[in-house]
Amino acid sequence: MSHAPLTATESSANWRNDFPILQQSVNGQPLVYLDSAASAQQPASVIEAVARYQREDHANVHRGVHTLSHRATDAYEGARDKIRDFINAASRTEIVLTSGTTESINLVAQSFCRPRVGPGDKILITHLEHHANIVPWQLVCEQTGAELVVAPIDDRGQLEPDTLWSMMTDDVALLAVGHVSNALGTINPVKEIVSRAKQRGIPVLIDGAQGVPHMTVDVRDLDCDFYAFSGHKMFGPTGTGVLYAREDLLDSMPPYQGGGDMILEVSFESTIYNELPYKFEAGTPNISGVIGLGAAIDYLQAIGMPRIADYERELHDHMVERLSDLDGIRLVGTASSKASVQSFLLDNIHSHDLGTILDHQGVAIRTGHHCAMPVMTRFGIAGTSRASIAFYNNVDDIDRLVKALVKAKQIFG
Ligand SMILES: Cc1ncc(COP(=O)(O)O)c(C=O)c1O
Repeated sequence: MSHAPLTATESSANWRNDFPILQQSVNGQPLVYLDSAASAQQPASVIEAVARYQREDHANVHRGVHTLSHRATDAYEGARDKIRDFINAASRTEIVLTSGTTESINLVAQSFCRPRVGPGDKILITHLEHHANIVPWQLVCEQTGAELVVAPIDDRGQLEPDTLWSMMTDDVALLAVGHVSNALGTINPVKEIVSRAKQRGIPVLIDGAQGVPHMTVDVRDLDCDFYAFSGHKMFGPTGTGVLYAREDLLDSMPPYQGGGDMILEVSFESTIYNELPYKFEAGTPNISGVIGLGAAIDYLQAIGMPRIADYERELHDHMVERLSDLDGIRLVGTASSKASVQSFLLDNIHSHDLGTILDHQGVAIRTGHHCAMPVMTRFGIAGTSRASIAFYNNVDDIDRLVKALVKAKQIFG
């Protein structure tokens, strides 16, 4: 099969130069990084924003009268404004800064769901979810007597719409669904899902960990109640994340954690909580990380998310086409609408062995269950090899991946 060159290759080369880590060799070969779904790399502008803050502005936020504290607070709160703008939330009060998607989902589970549900209520998730969008709901069910129900997927790794609609019954207290599956790359039709759920009065949380890095996300257009994502998957620092939540819901929810910064007044008799969003941000936050996340958003907006999505769609199709040509490959996850990720098995080679052989050739992929064990169970496998792309990848990376897989076949053949 002939492979037409991608039209966007040149821009990718320029973007790639912005990422210092991608300029190195690993095991004697130029690094091919195909593990962005686990954690994406950071452009120099993010690294520099964090370093500059540490060098020049570091102090605790919100509390100080001195100049450094003002600078730190302005930069930190400025990042919140950038996040609001990036996902088109109505107000900065709806942007709760967390340590990542996991904390954002746990916050909703404990502060929104736990006080509202009990025996007879259901929490609806799907078979595609990451453990971070399963276990917090199991905990709430254990705590309250509510029941966890799971919408099935088909053999391509897609939700079965009619079944999902039929599971949106009156006793569902919340629907939690991933925007994009980290194990299979399936893009769920979240806008339609929210709209159907709304018709039945069901609040919806979207796990956007794998959505935000790859496409435009507009929470008002989606009309979701909660949208959770992580900084480190969108080219920002680890230990940063966001919970978008509708203001009226946040207003009605008790704090998730108690401590400094989330209060207006404390006495031993009672405490008056701070205004939104600070009511949900106890303790000293990850100041430098959030400032880095703001710089990552500046970087993404300078390229433009529609451009990133177009480029990645083309590169993803190319990757799938090239992988499909390999003898002995089994693609896992073949949904009609996909982003970034392709999982696969090759001959009878154990995925960990495959990952190691590829690493020896400078190609970084992820192997195992990808924190989505139920997905693996659904396909009757223990794990997969997973290549995941970002806009800094290019056709050469895919060639190197395929070459490395051919070599692995020879070694194990
Ligand atoms: C779909 C999805 N949800 C949630 C998470 C958890 O993200 P974090 O570990 O950054 O909290 C991940 C991480 O891989 C993910 O891919």
